[in-house]
Amino acid sequence: MTGRVPEAMRAAYIDCVGPADGILYGELPVPPVGPTDVLVRVDAVAVNPVDTFVRSGAYATPLPFPFVVGRDLVGAVAMAGPGAPGFSPGQRVWCNSLGHAGRQGACAQYATVAAERLYAAPPDIAGEHLVAAAHPAASAWLALFRHGRLRPGETVYIGGGAGNVGGAAVALAARAGARVVATARAEDAPWVRGLGAAEVLDHRSPDLVGQARRAAPDGYDVHLDTSGRGALADAVDLLAHGGRLVAMVGLGRAATELPVGRLYTRDASIVGFAISNATTADLAAAAEGVVRLLGQTPWRPRVAGRLPLSMTAEAHRRLEAGEVRGRLVLTVAAGNGR
Ligand SMILES: NC(=O)c1ccc[n+]([C@@H]2O[C@H](COP(=O)([O-])OP(=O)(O)OC[C@H]3O[C@@H](n4cnc5c(N)ncnc54)[C@H](OP(=O)(O)O)[C@@H]3O)[C@@H](O)[C@H]2O)c1
Repeated sequence: MTGRVPEAMRAAYIDCVGPADGILYGELPVPPVGPTDVLVRVDAVAVNPVDTFVRSGAYATPLPFPFVVGRDLVGAVAMAGPGAPGFSPGQRVWCNSLGHAGRQGACAQYATVAAERLYAAPPDIAGEHLVAAAHPAASAWLALFRHGRLRPGETVYIGGGAGNVGGAAVALAARAGARVVATARAEDAPWVRGLGAAEVLDHRSPDLVGQARRAAPDGYDVHLDTSGRGALADAVDLLAHGGRLVAMVGLGRAATELPVGRLYTRDASIVGFAISNATTADLAAAAEGVVRLLGQTPWRPRVAGRLPLSMTAEAHRRLEAGEVRGRLVLTVAAGNGR
């Protein structure tokens, strides 16, 4: 144990699902630590769109109340259970799968994490980058390689290539030897090209679909839209023979008709993916991908700003109001945590 672990901690939590102003900031007991768990003293937490879906109830998942919000953390081991080998007090660690499926979240001074969900933080990667990358980059890795089954030499379409998931996907796919065609606003095109995109199309162009077709006349082996703006019929039409469309955005979007003929006559497929369903083995494989991405490519998550943990409700409000371009990072102070 590093220092004394107090009995109570400051935390951002809810008593029921609902709007952002239902997030309370106050004292809760430090959570118990089971034999295969690690108690982490939290340094920083990233705020992701999915945190707002869980808090509001838009994404239904079992939540124990009072429920501490937040999915990703970076921090230091305070105490490790006897069945959590490989973790020692003071060690820097990170996690990206708290705060859903019955697990308490990360927005607190301390969080209990099952050892199989906790990863060592490399000393040469800034904690802020790691925590801001944790969710979007792991999602990009799983979408491309587990669900999209992307292989070297294939062509991949990445919509929203300057976003947090999209940028990570561009860098990961290019590093894996795929040809990447991405979309972004014009001013972001140089950055997205720098991540390895062969072509960057302006997502504001009225002829975006035509440009995407000309950029890959034989079609796309993998289609990954992170903006939620593209039309399903166009995306299916752009697929190559055997192409895979990975659907990962658009919660609550209205139903659209599937152009089924164009899908099946090409042996193409649509696969849905939510990282919330990932196994611990897949999450661990993705975590290695995240660390390689940060260590070996120019991609870094866009950090939109930093707020103290006490302003978690404000962070959710700003994110839902569309005021955030990048990730807000919540910093967690020791002591009273204000
Ligand atoms: N299924 C899963 O497991 C999973 C996991 C992680 C994230 N997600 C979802 O993935 C989505 C992206 O997350 P993120 O963190 O990457 O968000 P983000 O950083 O805000 O990126 C969103 C991207 O969409 C682009 N975009 C916005 N409006 C557009 C438009 N009208 N036309 C074309 N592109 C547009 C943005 O472009 P500009 O930069 O030019 O505005 C940006 O590149 C979210 O909906 C999130 O909930 C799903």
